[in-house]
Amino acid sequence: MRDQIRYHSYRYYVLDDPEISDAAWDALFQELRALEEQHPAFVTADSPTQQVGARPLEAFAVVEHRERLLSLGNVFDEAGLRDWHRRASELAERDDFALVTEPKIDGLAVALVYEDGRLSQAATRGDGRRGENVIENVRQIPDVPQRLAAPGGGALPSRFEVRGEVYMPKAGFEAMNAAIEEENPALVAAGKKPQRTFANPRNAAAGAVRQKDPKITASRPLRIAVYQLGWAEGATPGTHWETLEWLRSMGFPTTPETVRQPGLDATVAACAAWLPRRDALPMDMDGVVVKIDDFAVQRQLGAVGREPRWATAYKFPSAEATTTLLRIEVNVGRTGSLNPFAILDPVVVGGVTVGMATLHNEEDVHRKDLREGDTVIVRRAGEVIPQVVGPVLSRRKDGALPFEMPDRCPVSGDPVLRPETEVMAYCSNPVCPAVVRRSVEHFVSRGAMDVDGLGERRVNELFDARLIEDAGDIYALAERREALLTLPKMAEKSVDNLLAAIERSRSRPLSALLFGLGIRHVGAEGAALLAQHFGSVAALQQASEEEIAAVDGVGPTIAESVARWMATERNAEIVAKLAAAGVRLAEEGGGAREGPLVEQQFVITGRLASMTRDEAAAALKRLGASVGSAVTKKTRALIAGEGGGGKRAKAEKLGTPIWDEEQFHALLREHETEPAAGTKIDPDPAGG
Ligand code: IVH
Repeated sequence: MRDQIRYHSYRYYVLDDPEISDAAWDALFQELRALEEQHPAFVTADSPTQQVGARPLEAFAVVEHRERLLSLGNVFDEAGLRDWHRRASELAERDDFALVTEPKIDGLAVALVYEDGRLSQAATRGDGRRGENVIENVRQIPDVPQRLAAPGGGALPSRFEVRGEVYMPKAGFEAMNAAIEEENPALVAAGKKPQRTFANPRNAAAGAVRQKDPKITASRPLRIAVYQLGWAEGATPGTHWETLEWLRSMGFPTTPETVRQPGLDATVAACAAWLPRRDALPMDMDGVVVKIDDFAVQRQLGAVGREPRWATAYKFPSAEATTTLLRIEVNVGRTGSLNPFAILDPVVVGGVTVGMATLHNEEDVHRKDLREGDTVIVRRAGEVIPQVVGPVLSRRKDGALPFEMPDRCPVSGDPVLRPETEVMAYCSNPVCPAVVRRSVEHFVSRGAMDVDGLGERRVNELFDARLIEDAGDIYALAERREALLTLPKMAEKSVDNLLAAIERSRSRPLSALLFGLGIRHVGAEGAALLAQHFGSVAALQQASEEEIAAVDGVGPTIAESVARWMATERNAEIVAKLAAAGVRLAEEGGGAREGPLVEQQFVITGRLASMTRDEAAAALKRLGASVGSAVTKKTRALIAGEGGGGKRAKAEKLGTPIWDEEQFHALLREHETEPAAGTKIDPDPAGG
């Protein structure tokens, strides 16, 4: 077990290329510690429980830390935190001490030495006693002060060490990975070794700090947050809280959202409050660090092994896990697209059990080189759907075969088409049963006709009972009460509710109807433009492809697709059925805002990595949202890029959700185009 832990520590700390998730490592470590506690005679000095991290790599000069860099013990819930506090109180013989909570930033620990106000050494943690001198690289990090200001109300100590975390902001990480991906084909073509992308911001930050070429480090979006004073020659403050303020006055960026808590209850509440906000910061955090504020109490408590008794980490459920990719299956989307998805050995990620995940398309599966039987890393960030990040190649079993897309549709058995310009493969049968059913599901979905109570299962039942054949038939269900009552879990009341919801949907706006028709390439945004310009389905049926393409914001791809849809006889029949049922097929009044985000207000702050603020605002407005200049109680969310202080503070005060760029893009993806392939997959079939 020690060997195993050593091996995984080496992969994590030295190679920056872990094979197992942090949670799995933690579990191994806790197990070893429990064993050693039961059998103290077997504890050896070189046991991982007595060490921190792994030995330094040879490439950098070795630095002896003047004072050992400690690690942190973990707690995983309120009971664990209270337990930690009780033990500390018993030893200190008091429990009235203040605590400080700060985010546990997921990056790489560094120790910076300053002499006469100048940075003179920067070392990684290494094994806690000896690390690597990475000063040339650390100098490239823009917010690491090279020269210090005198602290507020005092003189600089002649020599001292500060400790902090070097990290990569999430937005920078995404942009960097995207750029690497874009460059790779060019490198391959030039016969050079392509650069690998990184699985997460932590690995990317660690890799960048331990680069042999500081120029590469300089090109990576690194930042630092300082959280501790190591040692100092000269006068220093008496509490952690004052120390952080003191460090800030010298020019160090300290951990954001650090709060001094009067006691244990406030600390417990603060940790709980972080859980739903764990994605709110621009950097990854994997927990909350709780520290006793008073240095006198800290000294009194000291450390056991590698962990101080005066601090602990309240860890969040891991956002990443490793599991087995059991099978790759393929389902058929509403456009006939064949969407591969992963059947996983169910695993808890970020507090939710994940048993399936979309794999988008064939190309994606090949790019990641995912094979059945692989050990894979699964990641779930915020509310974003779970992602299979990639395989752990060192664990691949012999004989694992690359994925092959079937050449026949798994539902209808018809041949598969691969349009040259697309990464998607499609079923060649326009009336493939899967396509028809998915189309109805889409027609009644929320952004479209919004029929409450008609989900995937109910739609399938209606098809199975032959009550409907296409979207046009749902309005005739009012005459089929008796038949509806025979469906599972359909009492009088549910039938009434369903029919009322169908009735209400007749007056949905034209843009919702156009979106609901499920014309390929026509998302909510395109549907709104078409509704605004043509004003009715009849006008669109009359319009030529050129006329449609001439609409501002509608390109040739959409125009071609719309014209073809309107010219197809089956579709004309559906429209006729809808007209006969009295569904609204023309705009009323006009002028009013339309779109899936109507009546929702957003505010944008800071610098976004992928677009200007104006472009972001335009994208939101196209979906019907309004974009305000100040956060108010009505603001749905603050979209925060790099920087941006005042609005963020206001949003925090009002409890307004703060979204990073990733969450903003998730919103756009959800509404702007057709829903991403495979989004119908239930990521949590076990209901965990
Ligand atoms: S305090 C003795 N504060 O977490 C206390 N550490 O698992 C030492 N970390 O080695 C650390 N954010 O790399 C502290 N606000 C924070 C932190 C933090 C991230 C890292 C640091 C440390 C590791 C311990």
